Amino acid sequence: FTPQRLAGVRVLVTAGPTFEPIDPVRGITNRSSGKMGFAIAQAAQRAGAEVTLVAGPVALPTPWGVHRIDVQSAQDMLEAVLPLAPANAVFIATAAVADWRPATCAEQKIKKDGSGATPTLAFTENPDILATVAALPQAPYCVGFAAESEKLADHAQAKRLRKGIPLIVGNLGPATFGQDDNALLLIDEQGQRELPRAPKTELAQQLIDDIALRLKRP
Ligand code: C5P
Repeated sequence: FTPQRLAGVRVLVTAGPTFEPIDPVRGITNRSSGKMGFAIAQAAQRAGAEVTLVAGPVALPTPWGVHRIDVQSAQDMLEAVLPLAPANAVFIATAAVADWRPATCAEQKIKKDGSGATPTLAFTENPDILATVAALPQAPYCVGFAAESEKLADHAQAKRLRKGIPLIVGNLGPATFGQDDNALLLIDEQGQRELPRAPKTELAQQLIDDIALRLKRP
């Protein structure tokens, strides 16, 4: 790991889950811990980058020297990311963004009415933050993540093409949510490369090294 490989480079990272409100006290979220994204933010900062970390609700300390913006919903995350994206050279989307949000958020807490009737939730699709950033005229170098339950390489490659990004990183499961270890599969237009199982902090450094090399290539 070479320190200062990203000296002066601005890197934007999303991490953690999103929280999609149902009413003032309830919502829908997922089990992303944010550990991978926070480790990537820290590794980029150690490599000399100026890092902004847009984080959903997670119980993690802010990495040293990193500018952190806390958000709740996918829409909040998009609103935080979009104005910052053009000024960044790299965008790394590790957040587990909810695919759908409740179509409406009730103004007051939804109450039981005593009849035994259950509420029905209708959903709206959330914006794809990564695809939106990748489509910007001054898009940064975009890196996506993919967690799949089967056919990781195929699904990840399809996702890379669909979102229009140069590099996608597959989580070589089983379920990595909340764990300190992971193994990664890097997929770009050249093919794939595996980063074998290691602590997320170490994988984050390897990934940052890899991205730094890619930025140097013409
Ligand atoms: O489509 P899928 O959720 O599987 O894609 C995962 C990748 O896309 C991750 O990098 C994730 O951070 C990003 N993503 C996003 N906005 C969404 C959905 C996914 O930025 N609404």
